[in-house]
Amino acid sequence: MTQGLFISFEGIDGAGKSSHIEALAAAFRAQGRAVTVSREPGGTPLAEKLRDMVLHEPMDALTESLLIFAARRDHLRCVIEPALARGDVVLCDRFTDATFAYQGAGRGFDAKVLSILELMVQTGIAPEADLMREPDLTVWFDLAPEVAAERLAGARVPDRFEAQPLEFFRRVAQGYADRAAAAPRRFVRLDAAQSRDRVWQQLFSVFTAKGWLK
Ligand code: TYD
Repeated sequence: MTQGLFISFEGIDGAGKSSHIEALAAAFRAQGRAVTVSREPGGTPLAEKLRDMVLHEPMDALTESLLIFAARRDHLRCVIEPALARGDVVLCDRFTDATFAYQGAGRGFDAKVLSILELMVQTGIAPEADLMREPDLTVWFDLAPEVAAERLAGARVPDRFEAQPLEFFRRVAQGYADRAAAAPRRFVRLDAAQSRDRVWQQLFSVFTAKGWLK
């Protein structure tokens, strides 16, 4: 049976990951793979309700982290693990690296507590009892916060994160850089300041180099 593949996509708001996720899904499907596209927070009816709260209701960083991890647990249990068990390619718009970047680095919340939650939430659902589920690959769309802010300006009504000042996104960007440095084999960094076509070419070549796309 085909082995499932779990890929997450990360970057600060405005880095431009969404259109590439759709294109990648189409490329996998064209080559006969079943694809599950999802996002965090969200991806199940319960997790989407939690997303709505997290993006719009005022709350402190601990409450925010607990709700995001609760959403993640439901998402893993109801969508991600079943999809991987079927052999799907799972393309997830953000996962736990976002929590370390936004709640940890951005809001200044204790990364040790996040690591405990990560272990609790991501263990015990996969068939391998002691496996902590993590993406097989994380594509990081790296973009200077100033450029991202320009791209987002006037695009839509900002949510609680998009409304944050530039300084917040500088910390988030550093949070991603730290996560990438700590897991260099899982992370691939793309320079998201390049043209969309160029980013797509590089993204596609990452997947062909791994033998996942032809
Ligand atoms: P995003 O993924 O950018 O979706 P959209 O393109 O619809 O805006 O929005 C999700 C927001 O949630 C984003 O600002 C980052 C934030 N977020 C966290 O703060 N922590 C997390 O763990 C995750 C997954 C997202």
